Amino acid sequence: MDAIRIYGGKCLEGQTRIQGSKNASLPILAATLLINGTCEIENCPDISDVYHMQRLLESLGCRVDRDGPVVRVDTACLSKCDMPSDSVCVMRSSIMLLGALLARTGSVTMEYPGGCVIGARPIDLHLRSLRRMGVVIEERENGFSAAVLRLKGAVHRLPFVSVGVTENLLLAAVLAEGVTVIEPAAREPEIQALCEFLSRAGAKIKGVGTDRLVICGVESLKPVRYRVPADRIVAGTYLCACMCTGGRVFLREAPVGHMESVLSHAVMMGAAISYEPDGILVTGREHESRCHKLTTRCYPGFPTDLQSPFMVVMALSGQPGCIQETVFENRFRIVSELYKMGADIRIRGNTAYICGGTRLHGAIVQAAELRGGAALVAASLAAEGTSIVANRHFIDRGYEDIVTALRELGADVELA
Ligand code: UD1
Repeated sequence: MDAIRIYGGKCLEGQTRIQGSKNASLPILAATLLINGTCEIENCPDISDVYHMQRLLESLGCRVDRDGPVVRVDTACLSKCDMPSDSVCVMRSSIMLLGALLARTGSVTMEYPGGCVIGARPIDLHLRSLRRMGVVIEERENGFSAAVLRLKGAVHRLPFVSVGVTENLLLAAVLAEGVTVIEPAAREPEIQALCEFLSRAGAKIKGVGTDRLVICGVESLKPVRYRVPADRIVAGTYLCACMCTGGRVFLREAPVGHMESVLSHAVMMGAAISYEPDGILVTGREHESRCHKLTTRCYPGFPTDLQSPFMVVMALSGQPGCIQETVFENRFRIVSELYKMGADIRIRGNTAYICGGTRLHGAIVQAAELRGGAALVAASLAAEGTSIVANRHFIDRGYEDIVTALRELGADVELA
């Protein structure tokens, strides 16, 4: 039962509510470690990555409970600083706990984190930057130990923009002694959400939403209740699914303010978007595509997490096109699976050349990572015949009950 069976060829019609953001929830849950007391995180998506983060927090001694979309974390009993290897190995975001745990306990032992295999994804910059804040790190074959008496503010001039490093340094800096500068900082909306959460708890952060964050360390933070924003990547995935199948879908609570680049590409590729007060109405195939090139960039550029779903849209569109991936070096893993469905896509370096005008047919395909897996589901919805997307657990990492959501939109899908 780790697969999805899809009988393709049906237009999507109806509405779906966009869940809370995975990439905002995870660092915010990690940030609760900085606060002595109980924080309430609302609109937390019910996905396996959040579940693993909850388990990690519990294994450190926190009391964690979920009441529908609200996750409560009480850190008063935080007692351990060794992270269990099973959760760390399945989720790259466990690295997020490093900065927060060092701030709170001064020592951490963990294995190297896992997560989606989309490139080498080293953590060298995390470790190097934390060393600049006074942390002593001893690396071993499978993991490392880190220790510090009190974190010290530092000026970080990073060699490239990293979402994870920006988040980790923010978490390390808010309780550090003195001032920390992060430049260039990632500007993703999820980082803005983390800054908002921390600021409400009493942190002093300037430059939120810009590529230069200045954090003035404080002595302590107070418990808060915070609502996680909607997931722009999930909204973009359902948008793509609708573009692949045709039809009209209302994406309720889609965070349009964070989707400018995605929506403008969708419109150039043939969709019509109508903006409503509580979401967007997508008409999947309104006109021929006028967009033949897409390049992934850090925010506010086109997100790498939606590169695979848009590759499927391009494969189905009438023209040839190309996608340049500039964030991760190995993010074309769905190409071999789309090939089984009849797509004609060639890879040269960091660019995929897509033949276009493809009629996809059903096939048995393997998800190899989260967003690629969701893209294979979108391709299967548009394909003629039956497909099976294996390794559903990758998709469950980031999408709340995707089978039920798609069924409510009229798709013929089931667990397999
Ligand atoms: C986060 C997101 C992920 C998204 C990515 C880019 C979460 C939980 N995940 O991942 O969905 O695709 O941002 O928007 O929020 N790098 C190094 N050394 C390091 C750290 C990163 O070389 O120490 C490299 C990575 O391999 C990658 C690039 O930097 O090539 C950017 O990665 P980064 O922004 O750090 O991505 P994540 O935080 O892992």
